[in-house]
Amino acid sequence: MSRVAVFPGSFDPMTNAHLDVAQRAAELFDRLLIGVLNNTKKTALFSVDQRVAQIREAVAPFGPHVEVSGFDGLTVDFARRSGAGFIVRGLRAVSDFEAELQMAHTNRKLQPAVDTVFLMSALEYGYVSSSLAKEVAQFGGDVTPMVPPAVANALRAHFLPRS
Ligand code: PNS
Repeated sequence: MSRVAVFPGSFDPMTNAHLDVAQRAAELFDRLLIGVLNNTKKTALFSVDQRVAQIREAVAPFGPHVEVSGFDGLTVDFARRSGAGFIVRGLRAVSDFEAELQMAHTNRKLQPAVDTVFLMSALEYGYVSSSLAKEVAQFGGDVTPMVPPAVANALRAHFLPRS
């Protein structure tokens, strides 16, 4: 039986904590579809297309069974359309747990055939978040320990002082 999972998120931008979860999920599942939510409620720094391109570059070494696309609407519908039986989410710390528990229960109610699988982010990335990476980049700090090279370059280009 082929095991298919989706890994949904805003990924604005993808961090090394996300990448670590994607790498480990890529080892667990036969197909992993990373979905970038097109969230009309949040103002994003990068467009969905830019985020998809950054993530594709970062996950290319994991193999052709890892795909990246944008999606609209409910995660469970994205999972169903993709033929996925699992939603992968990362947990960095206990503080992530409450919101993730609520999301997992909501998704299970909406689509009982889709289960959520949690992976603990690697300890060294427990402090990393997309918003922190954006803030550090905005004020000229080094984000290379926090995000994949494609994202670090995109952040640098975005916040480059213009003369
Ligand atoms: O990276 P994020 O912002 O923590 O990801 C949150 C995400 C995209 C997984 C969540 O907001 C989501 O699933 N949104 C799609 C809408 C949906 O399915 N809502 C009901 C489940 S909470």
